[in-house]
Amino acid sequence: MRITSGKTSAGDGHSGLNRREFFMGAGSAAMAFSIMKPGLVRGSQVSSKISLGSIGCGNRGSWIAGLFQKHGGYEITAAADYFPDRVNAFGDKYNVPASRRFTGLKGFQRMLDAKVDAVVIESPPYYHHTHAAAAVEAGVHVYLAKPMAVDVPGCHSIEASARKAGEKKLAYLIDFQTRTDPFFQEAIRRVQKNGDIGRIISGESSYVASSPWPKMIPELMINPQDPERRLRAWGIDRALSGDIITEQNIHTIDMMTWILDQNPLKAIGTGGLGSRTAGNVYDHFSVIFTFPSDVIVTFYSKQYGEGANDIACQMYGTEGTLDTHYAGDVGIKGKSNYLGGRDSTLYTTGPARNIATFYDQVTSGKLDYSTIAPSVRSNLTTILGRTAAYKCAEFTWDELMKSEEQLDPHLTGLKE
Ligand SMILES: NC(=O)c1ccc[n+]([C@@H]2O[C@H](COP(=O)([O-])OP(=O)(O)OC[C@H]3O[C@@H](n4cnc5c(N)ncnc54)[C@H](O)[C@@H]3O)[C@@H](O)[C@H]2O)c1
Repeated sequence: MRITSGKTSAGDGHSGLNRREFFMGAGSAAMAFSIMKPGLVRGSQVSSKISLGSIGCGNRGSWIAGLFQKHGGYEITAAADYFPDRVNAFGDKYNVPASRRFTGLKGFQRMLDAKVDAVVIESPPYYHHTHAAAAVEAGVHVYLAKPMAVDVPGCHSIEASARKAGEKKLAYLIDFQTRTDPFFQEAIRRVQKNGDIGRIISGESSYVASSPWPKMIPELMINPQDPERRLRAWGIDRALSGDIITEQNIHTIDMMTWILDQNPLKAIGTGGLGSRTAGNVYDHFSVIFTFPSDVIVTFYSKQYGEGANDIACQMYGTEGTLDTHYAGDVGIKGKSNYLGGRDSTLYTTGPARNIATFYDQVTSGKLDYSTIAPSVRSNLTTILGRTAAYKCAEFTWDELMKSEEQLDPHLTGLKE
């Protein structure tokens, strides 16, 4: 492993799109908060519930549909997945008629043509921006899983489709859980508004876990060249997933960029594949991010072995420490203590809150695009760290912003 760290001169680092710029962008004047006339708010013709279609009917898609159903304001009326077995298992579970189950690469488009009010997108990350853009084009509200994209052009596509959603007065929400957690919100408010840990000098961001994809390796090994096997095993494919730093570790990187509320200036890193026997994604990353004012955050992730499971971000200030954990303790220790607390059920309460917010936006027309800019920033930050780690060299935010590289899984022969 090779890790090099170097301090840089201070700078403001705002070369990318910040939250304010996003809201003030072309054609988005009405995006931050717009109210639809009741007549424009779309609802299912057959009931007052929101007619919901799922794009991606695997683990998360099938699980989260249950949360939409539990909310009570949605009716699951359609489903699209590349694979018939997935869409049928989903369709049987949620009583989706056979005529509204869609398969193949263009299944999502056929579902949009068959009309739904909203989609929940839980397909592999490589497809997210395409699915989201098509939904907005069709006049459909978008509820989107993280990460939104695997490369910089994909992130720009998300910004563009979110802007278009603003113009068309459609809801568009990206599902991060920690940002809904009142303990996170209060602790970060105290740090940002009250300066409760003083000036932040350095921090740590980590995601340590076992492999989340044990079934994908045997699945792929049946025939590693078969495009359908590769699609089923998307989690261990760089282009389909964005690698673990983008696909999984985005949770802690999102905590980091939320707390610091700045774009990183640069990253330097390394990583590797030490345990997994198939696929081309790393199973550990070590990256050092430099933020404006010489704030250094050390990021680490691993996805193998047993006995360590934590998604954490700590910031060390001149007067205290902010300690945050996904579904774990959140608090401040130092001159100004904040006992905080833990929402150990955040994996469920987070999306449940987002689903309720999404419902309120769709039905009231009071649209709020506040999840877009911070999500794009953390997604871009994962790509910054990934690029630095692949290069084993320094990579700057300015270089990232110029990147036109599009990851390509080279999947030929899939059914349309
Ligand atoms: N905490 C969280 O926010 C959280 C947790 C888990 C998963 N996720 C996200 O949910 C997404 C799905 O993850 P998963 O664990 O359910 O994976 P999964 O493999 O179980 O499900 C993905 C599904 O998408 C289908 N699919 C593949 N290509 C498709 C295409 N072109 N069009 C339509 N469907 C396609 C697959 O057949 C599969 O059924 C990922 O983006 C993941 O990051 C988020």
